[in-house]
Amino acid sequence: IQQLLFRNPTDPPLVFHWFPFIGSTVIYGMDPPKFFRDNRAKYGDVFTFVLLGKKTTVAVGPAGNDFILNGKLKDVNAEDIYTVLTTPVFGRDVVYDCPNAKLMEQKKFMKIALTTEAFRSYVPIISHEVTSYFKRTAAFKGKSGIVDIPKKMAEITIFTASHALQGSRIRNKFDESLADLYHDLDMGFTSINFVLHWAPLPWNRKRDQAQRTIAKIYMDTIKERKALGDEDNELDIMKHLMTSVYKNGTPVPDHEIAHMMIALLMAGQHSSSSTSSWIMLRLAQNPKVVEDLYQEQINALGADLPPLQYEDLAKLPLNQAIVKETLRLHAPIHSIMRAVKQPMPVPGTKYVIPPTHVLLAAPGVSGSDPNYFPNPFEWDPYRWLPGSPNAPLIAARNEEEEEKIDYGYGIVSKGAASPYLPFGAGRHRCIGEQFANLQLQTIIVETVRMFKLSNVDGSDKIVGTDYASLFSRPLEPAEIRWERRD
Ligand code: HEM
Repeated sequence: IQQLLFRNPTDPPLVFHWFPFIGSTVIYGMDPPKFFRDNRAKYGDVFTFVLLGKKTTVAVGPAGNDFILNGKLKDVNAEDIYTVLTTPVFGRDVVYDCPNAKLMEQKKFMKIALTTEAFRSYVPIISHEVTSYFKRTAAFKGKSGIVDIPKKMAEITIFTASHALQGSRIRNKFDESLADLYHDLDMGFTSINFVLHWAPLPWNRKRDQAQRTIAKIYMDTIKERKALGDEDNELDIMKHLMTSVYKNGTPVPDHEIAHMMIALLMAGQHSSSSTSSWIMLRLAQNPKVVEDLYQEQINALGADLPPLQYEDLAKLPLNQAIVKETLRLHAPIHSIMRAVKQPMPVPGTKYVIPPTHVLLAAPGVSGSDPNYFPNPFEWDPYRWLPGSPNAPLIAARNEEEEEKIDYGYGIVSKGAASPYLPFGAGRHRCIGEQFANLQLQTIIVETVRMFKLSNVDGSDKIVGTDYASLFSRPLEPAEIRWERRD
């Protein structure tokens, strides 16, 4: 009755719930994509639910994606939501612990370092990290075996990303203490810490200790590299930040470089390692696709399969489609949130979202909508290749021809009205998209060269999704069978 009587006529429909503070928290937390789909069917594209006492308005579909992700700075704000979680983990003065204009400059510094020249140097680094990992790791010794894949993919992701983006000195420290420290830091990134981030709990104490130790390791490395001068010729992001200067003439201070390094590794690590795990699980579910990928490499690169180069990746469309299709069904970021700063009318509706609400974008909903993707829950990488009956029912995006905007971190497409946005859009759009694609595609190439994959029992089943952490990932154990090629 309270929910019906105290409604403002311009409020979106409120998802029914029994308990005031809890609201729909539990049912949302169990399976967010299903929660969005079910309530969209009941209430339409815009609806509100109570998440830990906060009225949270979801706007789905391409129009909803655009409404939230392209919201103006005066209307929506990311830092008010995320800073409680990210500042203790990343450290001060970066990302959400600074004004948005400063984040835009920091993103620009990081993005500028991701050039084609840098990418050319990253592919051999990543290839080498993957092959040497498979050679030295006990779980991949012998002719065949069974492996819990998410743990292995988490390691491969951290070795490849740290080496390419942060240089060999930092990479080598992951064999010593850094991996454990990052594990402690990660404890700060659980959903529960939206509420308990401040509490003097054992895992928060470990988080704070790890943050200080990691930041010091980075700052010491920066000093060492500065002392080396021209002798240091690696093309990583850390090196680039060491020479970057803010518009007001201030060089980026060492502690900010250190904190940005932590932020980059944390942002990329979870999304990429979840995606590579899903890729391996989907390939094991579909062994024939593994053979098609192997054949694609032979046809495009030659039967002797020469060492992989950056330019080779563009010659492997099925390999690219594997990443695209996996991100369509398993985007690791299922909920993108913004605080509302002033009343926001939703275009084409009677709704006005008040500043007491939080806005939530869920691009994954349109990514699995049959209006855009026939047989949406079928993992079908071939849908992205010409002539497929499951081809997306949307005009192929040609970003080069789209209207552009510069938020301060580089020129990007203005529109976010697309059903397929695994990397977000607008001011907070991912800057790691190209790197993630390159990293994931290289991991697939090297895995397929070495192994055939299948499900342990030979079936075509797939594990469920774990939504307990901030980034969704496969439920563990998620075992697959590998068999070494002759
Ligand atoms: C932002 C997805 C990999 C760095 C984002 C956002 C999404 C996303 C959806 C937007 C968040 C928002 O609007 O609140 C992904 C996926 C990845 C991936 C699916 C891999 C498969 C990476 C990598 C890096 C990275 C490898 C670093 C090299 C960032 C940064 C932002 C971002 C710095 C900006 C945050 C902001 O402006 O608020 N990513 N990402 N990401 N990502 Fe990624």
